[in-house]
Amino acid sequence: MELRSLCLDTTQRTTRVRLSHPDRNLDTVLLADATERLLGFAAPLVEHLHATGLVPTGRRFDVLSIDADHKLVKIRCGDQEHGLDYGQVQSLLRELARNARREAVARKPDPAGLDPDARWEHLYRHGGDGWEMGRPTPPLARYLTAHPLVAGQRALVVGCGRGHEAILLGQVSDPLAQVIGIDIAPSAVQLATAQAQAAGVSGSVRFLLQDLFAWTREDPSQVGAFDLVIEHNCFCAIEPSQRESYVEAVRALLRPGGRLLGLFYPHDYPGGPPYGSTVSEIHARLSPFFAITHEEVPTDSVLTRAGLELLLVATRR
Ligand SMILES: C[S@@+](CC[C@H](N)C(=O)[O-])C[C@H]1O[C@@H](n2cnc3c(N)ncnc32)[C@H](O)[C@@H]1O
Repeated sequence: MELRSLCLDTTQRTTRVRLSHPDRNLDTVLLADATERLLGFAAPLVEHLHATGLVPTGRRFDVLSIDADHKLVKIRCGDQEHGLDYGQVQSLLRELARNARREAVARKPDPAGLDPDARWEHLYRHGGDGWEMGRPTPPLARYLTAHPLVAGQRALVVGCGRGHEAILLGQVSDPLAQVIGIDIAPSAVQLATAQAQAAGVSGSVRFLLQDLFAWTREDPSQVGAFDLVIEHNCFCAIEPSQRESYVEAVRALLRPGGRLLGLFYPHDYPGGPPYGSTVSEIHARLSPFFAITHEEVPTDSVLTRAGLELLLVATRR
């Protein structure tokens, strides 16, 4: 679920939160206790406000409002209202945004005893797909739009979920290019297929029920068959013990000189999925097989991940 807006009012002791998901939108008003907890997560912003003199030291703001869609942040303190620079403060707002989402929709514990395949399907069927944004993630959308496929090229999205990035790539690319998304959850494949049909790209964008780790073994014709592999939230979703196999699988699917485009999420929150990692781990795992040609911490991540993502392009050696 994506956080669209938040309005934290310290005078009323309420927080209004708007979240969106492809199947449902949610407007929630959080009451005093939750608002007080969220204020704790707003501490980095409060420090910034004191340091910049926008709010006098020892006083707190009256109202903080965030419009993540339009990248607007405002604070009101007494009769003064100030607009803040979204780009400058987004990382300071990240923990507030993540925890507001959690307060509004508590994460359900996973049912015990499910193997990984059944677990993902369960999450899709029972509203557990909290990572779902209902659109391509902005950093990948920016990159894919600037680098469409030409006729004859083939791209693969691993752990494609509802297929937002695959469909976007199909829309911006030559109709004679091919985009394939694979996922182990049948519901994800069905939802993505329906979405590709609705978007009018089912001629060039297809979704397959396929385990990333098994594909080249089950179908050797896929070895070296792709010019581009796209990663978004699959590396952090698999068990960390499978990461070596993940890199092997991606490498096997790419032709020599083919590219891996990844939006990685090297966070250090406990537990998972999404499981944490570090930038140096990602480098160490990729470097033996790939030359990293571009790397950035995107400034257009969604607010709940601001400053924590790593957009990386790597060429298969
Ligand atoms: C956190 S979700 C991310 C979905 C999508 N990429 C997104 O960011 O919206 C992880 C996805 O990876 C899929 N997945 C997990 N293990 C996989 C595997 N071994 N092969 C293919 N897909 C897998 C899950 O079913 C799930 O759809």
